[in-house]
Amino acid sequence: MTFKEYRKIVKSRMGEKRFSHSENVSKEAIKLAKLYGADPEKAELAGILHDITKETPHEEQLQIMEKNGIILSKLQLSSPKLWHSLSGAAYIESELGITDQDIINAVRYHTSGRAGMSILEKIIFVADFTSEERDYDDVDVMRKKSRKSLEEAMHYGLSFTLSDLIKRERIIDPNAIDCYNDITINYTF
Ligand SMILES: [Fe+2]
Ligand SMILES: [Fe+2]
Repeated sequence: MTFKEYRKIVKSRMGEKRFSHSENVSKEAIKLAKLYGADPEKAELAGILHDITKETPHEEQLQIMEKNGIILSKLQLSSPKLWHSLSGAAYIESELGITDQDIINAVRYHTSGRAGMSILEKIIFVADFTSEERDYDDVDVMRKKSRKSLEEAMHYGLSFTLSDLIKRERIIDPNAIDCYNDITINYTF
């Protein structure tokens, strides 16, 4: 399948607003790939695909995951917002025939991050924070950091997200904590 064909499928599975976000993440991912020496075509594809099941009904996402042998932990079951990264990764592999494990992992870990991420995984994680339509308070800081160091941008984004989740007494995906620790241990800013 060509990029155009994948793009068309993505478009058919979500509303206009989310599709525009997906396109913006894809464009931002190309820029970051060129900056950090990753494959721009892979980044473009992972970007357009990353939220492919975000607007898929929960019941259908559960079916996709079950069909692909994904057994949810109690924590995962209680956070349906996190499902789209799991079901999205399973969907692009089993239904769209994506075989590139790096692209599959970029979708799989785009919400939580994880320890030991590849450059492509980091690019999609960061591009999701800095895509053109994003307009939260510190988006300028985040964009600036993303041009300096992917890890610095991730550290900044994760610090905010994790402390915000704790403040709101919400559940935290252990992968996000692993990701935060991994970057804190291995990089200095
Ligand atoms: Fe997402
Ligand atoms: Fe997204």
